[in-house]
Amino acid sequence: MNSSESANPADTASWRELTNLAGAMRERLLRDLFAEDPQRASTLSRTGAGLLVDFSKQRITADVLAALLGLAEEQGVLARRQAMFDGEHINVTEDRAVMHTALRRPRDMALVVDGRDVVADVHGVLDRMAVFAHAVRDGSWTGATGRRIRNVINIGIGGSDLGPAMAYDALRFYSDRSLCFRFVSNIDPTDITEALRDLEPAETLFIIASKTFGTQETLTNARAARDWLVSALGEAAVPRHCVAVSTNAERVAAFGIDTDNMFGFWDWVGGRYSMESAIGLSTMVAIGPEGFSDLLAGFHAMDEHFRVTPPEANIPLLMGLIAVWNRDFLDIPTTAVLPYAQFLSRFPAYLQQLTMESNGKSVRLDGARVDYNTGAIYWGEPGTNGQHSFYQLLHQGTQVVACDFILFAQALEPVFDMQDMLAANALAQAAVLAFGRTADEVRADGTPDALVPHKVMPGNRPSTFIMAARLEPHALGAMIAAYEHSVFVQGAVWGIDSFDQWGVELGKSMAEAIVPDLQDPDRVLDRDSSTAALIRMYQALHATAPGAGPDHIG
Ligand code: F6P
Repeated sequence: MNSSESANPADTASWRELTNLAGAMRERLLRDLFAEDPQRASTLSRTGAGLLVDFSKQRITADVLAALLGLAEEQGVLARRQAMFDGEHINVTEDRAVMHTALRRPRDMALVVDGRDVVADVHGVLDRMAVFAHAVRDGSWTGATGRRIRNVINIGIGGSDLGPAMAYDALRFYSDRSLCFRFVSNIDPTDITEALRDLEPAETLFIIASKTFGTQETLTNARAARDWLVSALGEAAVPRHCVAVSTNAERVAAFGIDTDNMFGFWDWVGGRYSMESAIGLSTMVAIGPEGFSDLLAGFHAMDEHFRVTPPEANIPLLMGLIAVWNRDFLDIPTTAVLPYAQFLSRFPAYLQQLTMESNGKSVRLDGARVDYNTGAIYWGEPGTNGQHSFYQLLHQGTQVVACDFILFAQALEPVFDMQDMLAANALAQAAVLAFGRTADEVRADGTPDALVPHKVMPGNRPSTFIMAARLEPHALGAMIAAYEHSVFVQGAVWGIDSFDQWGVELGKSMAEAIVPDLQDPDRVLDRDSSTAALIRMYQALHATAPGAGPDHIG
């Protein structure tokens, strides 16, 4: 199959077999599957790139796995994997290669595409980033007045924000604590205002991160930041306080940032796959170039695992196929991501873009409409906080939610035996979801009859358990790469383009057109009646604001 062909997965023999297996699986309980096979946990766990991934609490059997691997075969997933690693234009609708894996190749692992070694280009930028990151960290890169940089503000949105913001939190333990990092993304003026409220311009560095350098939110926030800086330090201060990360040098220059202060990347890096490109500059400043290399090494270890490990042992391949099984055959529309690590609090949000912007599609590569389900809804919160909030629905609600548990065995900051308590909670929740509690078991505890139905735990709710030794750069990189490739596998099975995002464009352009509507009460509105009425209501309420809004951040 070439990169623009996309057979309907529902027409394959494997799909039909999986449909039958799913019918039988409806009657089967995880309790029974575990009772039948004492080795189930080891049979269905996989290791790679420093991660242990236990799939045993998924509602799968050896037959299901075999049929899923057959589906991957019939849909040409492995050939497509090779095409991605080789730099073919598998992003068909944008006619682009998808080469984020090249971003994490070691220096000596060349990849020549169209006669050019892209790995040499990648390391050229990484080297420049390292020089800059060292200089900020050791104080030799000063602000315009000669003062040390103390604050680093990343301005970006989507992939130009979620990756850096998530990684900063995730790797905060390894970061230079004398530097303050903030992330501004929202066009809501409170975002930038709040980020700058207590900062000293002379000590503040802005990283303006935008692949296209054409995104309304980022450019507007960047303008506000620039105004704030220039009103305190003058125009000449800009080169010492503003650097850009983009693929578009022309727009960076037009914005007024010297391209000497720009760190580039390439159109073959998708926004949501870009945190290890120059978009990760804030991460590198935070944890240092060596820490960033460890992060890249973790990504690369999982890339290699995905590229060469046989299908039945291949973590991302199995993650992706099981996601398809849950979505299309067990009819589970949503996955909760439950990191038992406070520093991963932004990880679910990061995964939302990765998974939902990639696989929230309903036409195949050839434009045909799908007649099966594609990308699930991803969401989540760190455990144990979620346990005191939405887990009630996970355990006893009418909607089954697939869960991904993430746990690290070592505490970064040991306090009493808190890490053991954290781990015990993760293990308990996954076990209760899987095995539940029958009415007889509840009754045996002496529960009054009237309460028994309320305390029955249905169980049979599937989860994957991911464990690593410690939340460190390598483990984070490996885990993200596993999810990236899982997303790839799902998209390849479904025959969709996981690397475009046309669905977000119409709303963007309409928003731009509505701004002048909002600002001119006399304008005749050519809008649907709901939007027109809301515009008039907004204008009326806006006019009652106490004083005009400030043009500049004070
Ligand atoms: O609106 C979606 C999107 O295009 C994402 O895919 C991307 O990560 C984000 O906007 C930001 O784009 P840019 O980095 O070009 O500013």
